[in-house]
Amino acid sequence: MNNIKKIGVLTSGGDAPGMNMAIRAVVNAGINAGLEVYGIYEGYKGLVEGNYKKLTMGELNEKIPYGGTTLYSARLPEFIDIEVRQKGVDNLKKAGIEAIVVIGGDGSYRGAKALSNMGIKCIGIPGTIDNDIVSTDYTIGFDTALNTAVEAIDRLRDTSNSHIRCNIVELMGRLCGDLTLHAGISTGCNIIITKETGFDKEKVIAKIKKLHDKGERYVTVAIAEKITDIHKLAKEVQVETGYKTNPIVLGHIQRGGSPSAADRVLASSMGVYAVKLILDGEEGRCVGIVNNKMTHYDINEALNLKKEINPLYKVIKELN
Ligand code: F6P
Repeated sequence: MNNIKKIGVLTSGGDAPGMNMAIRAVVNAGINAGLEVYGIYEGYKGLVEGNYKKLTMGELNEKIPYGGTTLYSARLPEFIDIEVRQKGVDNLKKAGIEAIVVIGGDGSYRGAKALSNMGIKCIGIPGTIDNDIVSTDYTIGFDTALNTAVEAIDRLRDTSNSHIRCNIVELMGRLCGDLTLHAGISTGCNIIITKETGFDKEKVIAKIKKLHDKGERYVTVAIAEKITDIHKLAKEVQVETGYKTNPIVLGHIQRGGSPSAADRVLASSMGVYAVKLILDGEEGRCVGIVNNKMTHYDINEALNLKKEINPLYKVIKELN
């Protein structure tokens, strides 16, 4: 236990559906424990500028069904600079805020660890649609983004089946293939391409041509972002295979929308757990859910964990 009286909460990096629910959990659990809870606006930018406001119990209830983040978010590359961070630390100390909960991805975690080393106790909560934080089985926002992508690809199937088409669908995920892999399996995509599967253009085109020659009316390829230019790829596929081929970038559509029930529950559990860690005197830690149990890691340790190959890659081999 410790004598902390005021804590802050911020969201940083790319927003993710469910962030509002995590903020609400931190606020309600904090107030229930007798703390004052401050919302810090626009991530580390608001921390440096001293842009925060005391939040009240129940204030976030109406945000439950909404995506985005009511505290807004920002990426602040300058936060790597110790002088910029020191400004934020000074502001927090002046306001009497001794601990903060940082909801975001790996970049936000790095900022949180650096702040912890400067005397502000930080706890990280994984909020990103990418599911690329290895210290947790699931990040907040992944399930919602996945369902959004699945709905989009299902819709593409309806129209492609009516004609004779190939769709090459690009999904987000930064350097992590989880969104593409899960969405590709969920929608029965013929080909799934991620960093983990590797990309061999000739093989992909040959496979699509084979499907065309077999008489398949439509083919769907799920491909993770940052692998190749899908507009160019679609042109080549069209010329080589005979399918009219559409490149579809799902883009930021995947980041919006009402959080799924799974994300709401995950965010609520993680928010409450983060406050418990602060009350227990922990700092420089991040929250995770592993094998359905809430757990916490040192942030540096979490950032250095190596992601194991997702066993689902074995599953896709048997499906196509
Ligand atoms: O980290 C979330 C994410 O949506 C990634 O999937 C994507 O690569 C990136 O953010 C896009 O960032 P921005 O919204 O800054 O363009």
